[in-house]
Amino acid sequence: MKILAIETSCDDTGVAILEVSKTAKFSVLSNIVSSQVEVHKKYGGVYPFLAKREHQKNLPLVLKKALKQAKNPKIDLIAVTNGPGLEPCLWVGVNFAKDLAKKWHVPLIDVNHIKAHIFVNMLGKKKIEELKKKDFPALCLVVSGGHTQLILMKGLEKYQILGETRDDAAGECFDKCAKILGLGYPGGPEIARLAAEARLPPNGGRRASAQLPRPMINTKDYDFSFSGLKTAVLYADRKVKNKTLKYKQQMSAEVQQAVIDVLIKKTLKAARDFKAKTIILGGGVTANQELRKQFSERVQSLGARVQLLIPPANLSTDNALMVAVAGYFRAKQNKLSKWQDIEAKANLRVE
Ligand code: KG4
Ligand code: ZN
Repeated sequence: MKILAIETSCDDTGVAILEVSKTAKFSVLSNIVSSQVEVHKKYGGVYPFLAKREHQKNLPLVLKKALKQAKNPKIDLIAVTNGPGLEPCLWVGVNFAKDLAKKWHVPLIDVNHIKAHIFVNMLGKKKIEELKKKDFPALCLVVSGGHTQLILMKGLEKYQILGETRDDAAGECFDKCAKILGLGYPGGPEIARLAAEARLPPNGGRRASAQLPRPMINTKDYDFSFSGLKTAVLYADRKVKNKTLKYKQQMSAEVQQAVIDVLIKKTLKAARDFKAKTIILGGGVTANQELRKQFSERVQSLGARVQLLIPPANLSTDNALMVAVAGYFRAKQNKLSKWQDIEAKANLRVE
């Protein structure tokens, strides 16, 4: 079967076509992402109505490109992100998908964006049958510009949110700290780039006098808080008169390490507490190379009891291929609803 997927929840317009064979093997026929970064750059953040307008403009073009690259196949199922995300943007994708479903007489399935970030990891499995009961429970960390959640996944459609950020998301923290340091937008990749240039002593990549806090790192719950970290960067930055490149590099490395420390500590604590067999990472922040490296090292040090799944960096950030994979699994669980009933839901939760 061939699945066409649409993603418009934030500032990336995505259309992908995924083929799933009878023996349940995945082949990616196309995965087109049109980023609005240049549009939002001058504002240093995403403006929902501007993003909506861009989606409306881009979606037909991105669809055309995706179909052409896939050699215009016959589509059997359409999957669309219906939340969580920016409501005006979500509606563009949902309405576009409904029109296609009607025109092509093809079933439509709604996909949760957070689940899509989780399910993109299944692409790495050669066969879906490889995903067995023994892989569960899985502990998922979804970290993006809009979300920071720890989710216990007991089965393909059984979720429990264990904890989440009480204020800023981890990606939002990177973006805001980058702004304070006068770096470009989006901030995550900029912080990562400068941090990689920083000359740090070989003690786990940290300076002897790590000056930034690791908010909530030792609390018993599974929640996060990143706004205090941003405030600490702001206060530290005010004291610095000469903002040299070296200063920006070191501060970037500090911010990155503070976020990584908290994410790893809390994720591993939850994995231990719930006896997770698999740790699944997803969301834009997991494109961060240092985070990937340190997560892998720490999970490896636990021995072979836990497997770690991290999507390739280009599939960590928003794309429609992840929506196609999640849509496939959802359809397999008979979660198809009438296309007329599908609505955009800005605050959709995974439970
Ligand atoms: O998943 P995503 O593309 O969109 C949302 O659903 O929010 O995530 C975007 C977020 C941004 O905050 C961006 O700064 C962050 O992911 N990000 C990174 C990196 N690449 C993207 N953060 C840290 N390091 C990166 N390499
Ligand atoms: Zn996302």
